[in-house]
Amino acid sequence: MKSVLEVLQSTSAYFAKAGVESPRLNIEHLLAHVLGLPKRMDLYLAFDRPLSELELAPLRALVRRRAQGEPLQHLLGTVEFHGRTFRTDARALIPRPETELLAEKILARFSTPPPRILDVGTGSGILALTLAAQWPEAEVHAVDISEAALSLAKENAASLQLDSRVTFHHGSLMTAVSGVFACIVANLPYVPTGEMASLSREVQRDPALALEGGPDGTDLIRPLLLAARAHLQGLLALEIGHAQSAPLAEALAAAGYRDISQESDYNHRNRFLFATYG
Ligand SMILES: C[S@@+](CC[C@H](N)C(=O)[O-])C[C@H]1O[C@@H](n2cnc3c(N)ncnc32)[C@H](O)[C@@H]1O
Repeated sequence: MKSVLEVLQSTSAYFAKAGVESPRLNIEHLLAHVLGLPKRMDLYLAFDRPLSELELAPLRALVRRRAQGEPLQHLLGTVEFHGRTFRTDARALIPRPETELLAEKILARFSTPPPRILDVGTGSGILALTLAAQWPEAEVHAVDISEAALSLAKENAASLQLDSRVTFHHGSLMTAVSGVFACIVANLPYVPTGEMASLSREVQRDPALALEGGPDGTDLIRPLLLAARAHLQGLLALEIGHAQSAPLAEALAAAGYRDISQESDYNHRNRFLFATYG
């Protein structure tokens, strides 16, 4: 029988050969998941624990899929985002840590909650649901062009008991929504078409509809800036590709937005734009 430590060591080596980034971290997450441990670090108290065939069989299947490029988050089925657990799968983009930073920046900008909020391109629903949870007084709307993403977002709303707080709309950009919002947030696709083929095999498991943003990545963001004006009295908050920050800041100014600020992510690259309108 193999021990926890032996499995961690042998699978780390196997993952490294298979080109899996952070191999040790990946096997730790998968093993903790199979053993039903609440925290990955709990493995460190169980290095000598022998693993039965009953435990190893499901682990082997997950290890094989991870080595073939399936994202860790799809295998675990959940991600943590701003202190809450969200279901994640191939229906929508896997939530990214940068987007957590966007949520924090939005929350920090309001001393009193904005009464009406819209999340455009909601995907798994992380932004809309996080803002709804943090601001119980706010009326939150979320829109996506993908029915599959919306079905996942609705499942997340139900499991967080926020389904009565967020209204989901199916449609493109602003076409399915009405009324005026005090905050519009959007993490729309922004990968330039020419870069799609060079994305990692894990990122290529995200829906193309969630990634591809046309020749320079701004095919959806530019029309949003224009269309949002008819529905905005307050803050527009965008996650973008870093090469797009300066040109989109110019586009915002040309469209009549004020207080335009380009803000950076954890890697000191400008990845967020904030501006006010109305
Ligand atoms: C980069 S993902 C972001 C998902 C989620 N907001 C997040 O931060 O994890 C972009 C989302 O925009 C949606 N989308 C793409 N084109 C759209 C459009 N024209 N109108 C509305 N949503 C769109 C995609 O289906 C996808 O869910």
